[in-house]
Amino acid sequence: MTLPRYERPTLIKHVAGMMNKYARVQALRPLTHVDGVSLAELVARHGSPLFVFSERTLVSRQHELRDALALRFPRSQLAWSYKTNYLDAVCRVFHREGSWAEVVSELEFDKARRLGVPGEHILFNGPYKPEAALEKAFGAGAHVHLDHFDELLLAERVAARLGLRPKVSLRVNMSVVGTPPWSRFGFNLENGQALDAARRLVAGGRLQLTGLHCHIGTFVQDVEAYRQEARKLAEFANLLRRELSVRMETIDLGGGLASRNTLHAQYLPGEQTTPSFAQYTEAMADGLSALETAGGEQPTIFLESGRALVDEAGFLVTTVHATKRLPDGRRALVLDAGVNVLPTAAWYRHDVVPAQDFAGTPEPSVLVGPLCMAIDVLRDQLLFPPVGPGELLVFKNVGAYNVTQWMQFIAARPAVVLVSRSGESAVIRRRESLETLVSQEALPPWLS
Ligand SMILES: Cc1ncc(COP(=O)(O)O)c(C=O)c1O
Repeated sequence: MTLPRYERPTLIKHVAGMMNKYARVQALRPLTHVDGVSLAELVARHGSPLFVFSERTLVSRQHELRDALALRFPRSQLAWSYKTNYLDAVCRVFHREGSWAEVVSELEFDKARRLGVPGEHILFNGPYKPEAALEKAFGAGAHVHLDHFDELLLAERVAARLGLRPKVSLRVNMSVVGTPPWSRFGFNLENGQALDAARRLVAGGRLQLTGLHCHIGTFVQDVEAYRQEARKLAEFANLLRRELSVRMETIDLGGGLASRNTLHAQYLPGEQTTPSFAQYTEAMADGLSALETAGGEQPTIFLESGRALVDEAGFLVTTVHATKRLPDGRRALVLDAGVNVLPTAAWYRHDVVPAQDFAGTPEPSVLVGPLCMAIDVLRDQLLFPPVGPGELLVFKNVGAYNVTQWMQFIAARPAVVLVSRSGESAVIRRRESLETLVSQEALPPWLS
């Protein structure tokens, strides 16, 4: 006869914030494999912590958005938002599946070119495009989205020097429901600044105004925001056609679609609240139906979605280093990954599960990282089953922004692995080391 495994008795204090409508019940299942590949084996080979990306999910999310867009618009094009995750392998997957590149700096522009993206397939955003960057972009035929008047004047000078009359877009900002205005970027629509910019650009005669761009914000869960954005851009394009006789060949609705993550302030989980790609694109199409097209010629619709395409494809595997009891009664799990590698923990209540089978009663826990800083908290309250030193946890939906915004602070950054659709795995970024850290340093002669 096998005896049931001993579970020590635990007294658990009820904490209101940890209840859900079924009281304390939680359906927590371990995640042991990604697309058939064992996470424990990957960690044994590449160390802990470890980022793991699923190529299958990258491809399926990209296809889902591409198809939802193509269903609504006769001409559409996705452009992969480099800043969200510019690991070569991740960009290569999106480019292979037909995405262009959306970049916001010269470094990103150069990275896209190095990966073989043709200049005409690059959308160049951002408030800081120095002269050399504009020169490169115009020379390569990239789509430059002008951000402010000084940039407009600089672009005219660069175009004159190169003897070109490049096509450019105006970045526009506006207020819409459901997200705070991102008024720092581009020309404001409501106060007439965008119209002034268009008039000035056309009068200058050095650049051709052929596109409009807007990025209303990020993690926008209200599809109504996109309906309003699209309608306002359509009406602005109509005005430009009537007043300045210019036709918009491209309308770029930016990114900002929510992934299935859950914000800290959210009650229901993201899986229940995040709209589908079809719902987003339906709202966009409805708003853009206000566009008057001369002779039926439709503009190409660009989308620069970032987090919604890559978040679900990324997993962070981390090892429990120790468990301890805090004075307030919570159990703390000390992990080998902290906010240094998971900065999105500041925004999201990341979904986290054990990477091996478990038993026992979940209890109020806090997940903390290895940094000797009080802010190093990945989840500050959750009900978590008993796990001990050496066991693995997996954070889900971590593919966006972490491997670009992570920081090298007192620890080497972890390796990143890609799992292919046929179950192969390969390192796509090596673990850093002391050597990586000191390779950029130098001792001056008097200290050598
Ligand atoms: C201009 C622009 N396009 C696209 C994106 C991608 O945004 P998201 O990851 O929210 O889709 C960003 C991110 O802030 C952006 O600034």
